[in-house]
Amino acid sequence: MQLTDNTILITGGTSGIGRALAEALHARGNHVIIAGRRQELLDEVTAANPGMRGLAVDVQDSFALAEFAARVRDEFPKLNVLFNNAGITRTEDLTVDAADPSAWRAILETNVASVLHLTALLLPALRRQERATIITTTSGLAFVPTSRFPTYCASKAFLHSWLQSLRHQLRETSVEVLELAPPYVQTELGGKAQASDPHAMPLADYVAEVMQLLAEPNPPHGEILVQRVQGMRGAEQNGEYAKWYDRMN
Ligand SMILES: NC(=O)c1ccc[n+]([C@@H]2O[C@H](COP(=O)([O-])OP(=O)(O)OC[C@H]3O[C@@H](n4cnc5c(N)ncnc54)[C@H](OP(=O)(O)O)[C@@H]3O)[C@@H](O)[C@H]2O)c1
Repeated sequence: MQLTDNTILITGGTSGIGRALAEALHARGNHVIIAGRRQELLDEVTAANPGMRGLAVDVQDSFALAEFAARVRDEFPKLNVLFNNAGITRTEDLTVDAADPSAWRAILETNVASVLHLTALLLPALRRQERATIITTTSGLAFVPTSRFPTYCASKAFLHSWLQSLRHQLRETSVEVLELAPPYVQTELGGKAQASDPHAMPLADYVAEVMQLLAEPNPPHGEILVQRVQGMRGAEQNGEYAKWYDRMN
C-alpha cells in the first residue's frame, strides 16, 4: 500500500491499535479520519493531531452506520482507504445453563456485521478511486482459538475467510484487500491490565513493524503479519497446531 497521499477512514481510532496507526499515518501526511463512540477521545486525538478529523459513530447501530457512511461519502470524496479496525472482546462461559446472548450478539454486530455493512456502503466510492485499499483487523486468534473468547475468536476467523473472498472478487479492480492480524498487543481491549501485560507486544513496537510491512508492495496473501504472530498464523501448515492450541488453552 502506498503510505502517502491517502484519505483514510479508521474505525476504532479512539484508542489502542487504531489510534496509534491513525497517528502514524497522519504523521506521514495522509488525511486521516478516525471514528469511535467516545467523543472525548475523538476530541483528544484530533486536538493532538491537527488536521485529523473525528466522527462519532456506534458501529453496532446499523442505521447510524448507514448515516455515517453517507456523511463520509459526502464530506470526503477522496476517501481511498477504509480501515475496519473497531472491535470488542468478551469472555464467555458456554457451560452455564442460561447463557446470556448479549455478549455474542455484541461481538458479532461489532466485529463482523459492521465490517460487512460499512464495506458494502463505502465500496462503490472506493472503486471510483484510482487506487484504494480496504484493510481489516483480524487477530492471531483467527488461526488458533483460545476458549475463553469463543465468539471473539470465531468472529476473527469469519473475517479471515470473508476477506479472502472479497480480495478475490476485487482482484481486477483498483481496490486491494489487506488483513491485519495482530498478536497479543498492549492495549485495553481485554481490560486495563492488558495495556501493561509484559506478555503482550508493546504497542509502539507493533505499530512500527506494521508501518514497515504496509510500505512493502503486495504482502503475501494480502496479510500484514508481524514476526510475533507468524507462529500462530502458520501453526496448522507447520504441523504445530496442537502445540499452539495447548499453549493458548
Ligand atoms: N490488542 C490486542 O491484543 C489485539 C489482538 C488482535 C486483534 N486485535 C484487534 O485490534 C482491533 C483494535 O483493538 P485494540 O486492541 O486497539 O483495543 P481498543 O483500544 O479497545 O480499541 C477498540 C476500538 O474499537 C472501537 N469500538 C468498539 N466498539 C465500537 C462501536 N460499537 N462503535 C464504534 N467503535 C467501536 C473503540 O472505540 P470507542 O470505544 O470509542 O467506540 C476503540 O477505538 C480490534 O479489532 C481487536 O479485535 C487486538
